[in-house]
Amino acid sequence: MTQPVGVFDSGVGGLTVARAIVDRLPHESLLYLGDTARVPYGNKSPETVRRYSLNITERLMLGGAKALVIACNTASAHALEAVRAAVDVPVIGVIEPVSARAIERTQTGRIGVIGTLGTVKSCAYPRALTALSAAVEVHQRACPLFVPLAEEGWTAGRVPREVARTYLAGFAGTAIDTLVLGCTHYPLLRAVIEQVVADEVGGPVCVLDSAVATAERLAQVLADDGLLAVAGDPHHKFLVTDDSESFQGVCERFFGAPVGHVEHVDL
Ligand code: DGL
Repeated sequence: MTQPVGVFDSGVGGLTVARAIVDRLPHESLLYLGDTARVPYGNKSPETVRRYSLNITERLMLGGAKALVIACNTASAHALEAVRAAVDVPVIGVIEPVSARAIERTQTGRIGVIGTLGTVKSCAYPRALTALSAAVEVHQRACPLFVPLAEEGWTAGRVPREVARTYLAGFAGTAIDTLVLGCTHYPLLRAVIEQVVADEVGGPVCVLDSAVATAERLAQVLADDGLLAVAGDPHHKFLVTDDSESFQGVCERFFGAPVGHVEHVDL
């Protein structure tokens, strides 16, 4: 029970999920790995993303992870099954939990999804959503430039607004009432995305991200498996595969708190 939950992402985006886990499960220790040497995953082939994800899994299991959270949509899309087959601890991806929430929320049955090229091309969201409700209509758009904008901290103002307008114009006429932020970086651009998508669709759109839904799913799985830490101070550890200094800087923005020492690891 006192072993850490392993959490990984291609970089810093997964810290938005880590934050939600810390808020929901204050006694859990996290072992976070950001693959900053190989980010972005969003434009890489499914085989490469699977290979990277399995490398990371090995490292987190060596660190004693009692459960794994794939806090990256692209890795969840391409590697969830492979990671599950490789370990004997529970493995949670970010796609299914937020899809379930989107199905609960939508009134019209028309759901938008934005993500990386890899996530969109994999059709993992349409599959997850239609598995939960066959009647749902899914509209997807890849928004690759949102990732560097979030990394650079360009999350408000003219540039992100224009980029959002260009990407989200495709939702005009779709009548979506729910939009899933299918990339762990996008919550940082939430205010801009919310405003622009409502303008394009011509009405309010409920914008959902995977962080809270994933933390909730983790809580349920740990409780079901008798793995929940119910008392004690947590100890979080952050690993990166490149440049721990600049990671520390952006970390605060994504995690919402100082992360202390960040350790560099080679995979
Ligand atoms: N973390 C990735 C995701 O959620 C976005 C960044 C990347 O392309 O690696 O899909």
